[in-house]
Amino acid sequence: MPDTLLLPSAPEGLRHAAAILRAGGLVGFPTETVYGLGGDARSDLAVARIFEAKGRPRFNPLIAHLPDVAAARMLAGFDDRAEALAAAFWPGPLTLVLPLRAGAGLSPLVTAGLPTVALRVPAHPLAQALLREFGGPLAAPSANPSGRISPTRAAHVLDGLSGRIAAVIDGGACAVGLESTIIGLDGPSTLLRPGGIAVERIEAVLGGPIGMAGDAVRPTAPGQLASHYAPAARLRMAADGPRPGEVWIGFGPGSPKGLNLSPEGDPVAAAAALFHTLRQADLLAGPDGAIAVATIPETGIGRAINDRLRRAAAPRP
Ligand code: TXA
Ligand code: MG
Repeated sequence: MPDTLLLPSAPEGLRHAAAILRAGGLVGFPTETVYGLGGDARSDLAVARIFEAKGRPRFNPLIAHLPDVAAARMLAGFDDRAEALAAAFWPGPLTLVLPLRAGAGLSPLVTAGLPTVALRVPAHPLAQALLREFGGPLAAPSANPSGRISPTRAAHVLDGLSGRIAAVIDGGACAVGLESTIIGLDGPSTLLRPGGIAVERIEAVLGGPIGMAGDAVRPTAPGQLASHYAPAARLRMAADGPRPGEVWIGFGPGSPKGLNLSPEGDPVAAAAALFHTLRQADLLAGPDGAIAVATIPETGIGRAINDRLRRAAAPRP
């Protein structure tokens, strides 16, 4: 494949991207969470290319991205809970797993043959513009090689996938910086992946606590594999400070000198900076190096940050 094009966010860049997608090609594009690797969700060939480009195990289902809730209702059954969450958080960093509609027209590779489908309406203006220009659902996992750190800038996408995908749209840095929160609604409301919307806010809309999918109970997701989002260096979390030889990632004021996820101690800013900072630390540490990360409070989006750090710290397969 020729070199991956870096497309501008101007209208001609989006038209070019939509033409690639219509021809079954793959385009990296910004969302408010992370960059997605988009392909036509109705095309077996395009979706197969996504798995191939990422080197991802094929049994994992993907998220279908839509421009609005009306388009989402064409693909899945919405009950009162789904309507309430969509009204509260779409467009935005929330994914709902819902019963797949008969005749929805998605490639079975998107759903991995399951009777359910994961749907998301992204808020990023370029994601919105691309979905409207393309005019169909886009399957889009994060635009990184499987198991590696998710991309929050166009340059990260090129680092991992250059020469493996047709193009990436340059939309600058992602505002949220962590993947969407995934809620399963095909049975009791269940948190399948912590992410950009804090669980507390979901529970407030649903009017009660939701179930947590234990990793052992439901290993559905690449995001649910113990080792994921992994830097090359070893990673230690909840550290008080760096040990000799460790690259330090702090949080808040008064943290030891080094990198810092948010000198102000703002968890939202820390989430936005997380993946970029892990990449920086990885470069500084080198392949056999080590990274230590300060304690992050286990509330709100801090839970999603800790989830990603736990997976980055987990023993590698
Ligand atoms: O923020 C995001 O969600 C990003 C951006 C690009 O939108 N996308 C993303 O996609 O993280 P991906 O493919 O990396 O994550 C898809 C997750 C997986 O953990 C998968 O197991 C879960 O969604 N999933 C998809 N369909 C499912 C289903 N039918 N049942 C349960 N889990 C499902
Ligand atoms: Mg991913």
